[in-house]
Amino acid sequence: MESLHIHETPPPGAAPDWTIAQNWSSYSAQDHAIWDRLFARQSAQLPGRACEAYLRGLDVLRLSRPGIPDFAELSDRLMALTGWQVVAVPGLVPDDVFFDHLAHRRFVSGTFIRRADQLDYLQEPDVFHDVFGHVPLLADPVYADYMQAYGEGGLRSLSFGALHKLARLYWYTVEFGLVEEAGGLRLFGAGIVSSHGESIFALDDPSPNRIAFDLLRVMRTEYRIDDYQQSYFVIPSFEALLKATAEADFAPVYAALDSLPDIAPDAVLPEDRLFTRGTQAYAR
Ligand code: PHE
Ligand code: FE
Repeated sequence: MESLHIHETPPPGAAPDWTIAQNWSSYSAQDHAIWDRLFARQSAQLPGRACEAYLRGLDVLRLSRPGIPDFAELSDRLMALTGWQVVAVPGLVPDDVFFDHLAHRRFVSGTFIRRADQLDYLQEPDVFHDVFGHVPLLADPVYADYMQAYGEGGLRSLSFGALHKLARLYWYTVEFGLVEEAGGLRLFGAGIVSSHGESIFALDDPSPNRIAFDLLRVMRTEYRIDDYQQSYFVIPSFEALLKATAEADFAPVYAALDSLPDIAPDAVLPEDRLFTRGTQAYAR
């Protein structure tokens, strides 16, 4: 996240925009079987937990078909729905490259799949996280616009030196967001829906805080990358999220953030609107 002004060159075999071929035909039967196991267990667990738009996306993109999805086929379906594509990259790409793809409605995905002994936990994103976690919501028109706007905002944040503040917005929405629906809180963050453990923990465990989304609050809040979150933020709807972000000018937001202290991942502030005050028992 730091090398902002260095124009790194893509690794050998990658295009100037860092994309590579997915090489779908090179996946082994075992690779596809791992996808199928992960898919079966998560798709059984998510009804009633994931938000409506996510579940609809799984369905309309026909992600239930066996095996690791072929990005070309998946992109055809996604393109017809919201104009997005899924493109393969060798792993993490530089920030400006990542944002530029989003700004052009291209979601970058890793191609490798975890091993059978890593079903529950993996530090780096694999194709299951990237595709099962992120792609279903890209079939939702409002969410699709949010992701494009985020890419444009990401490029803009670089000139303010504010990337790490904007990255917290991504973390607490795109990766770990909750949304309030008529039936109660639901999951939408890709890091949660792709995790067998966290898709229970984020909704049901008494440990974490569940706090109403507030833009400045989120952009001040540090996060942990090594374990379940200590706080989740709840948006009222994707329309509300888009309004609070895409329709706002972040220049004054970044300026205001400069004089506001960061907030610890487990903190609760007097002005927070809480859905749940966590016990933090899990984190201790
Ligand atoms: N509107 C923000 C800006 O002025 C960009 C942005 C859009 C950020 C959507 C996040 C999500 O920089
Ligand atoms: Fe992710």
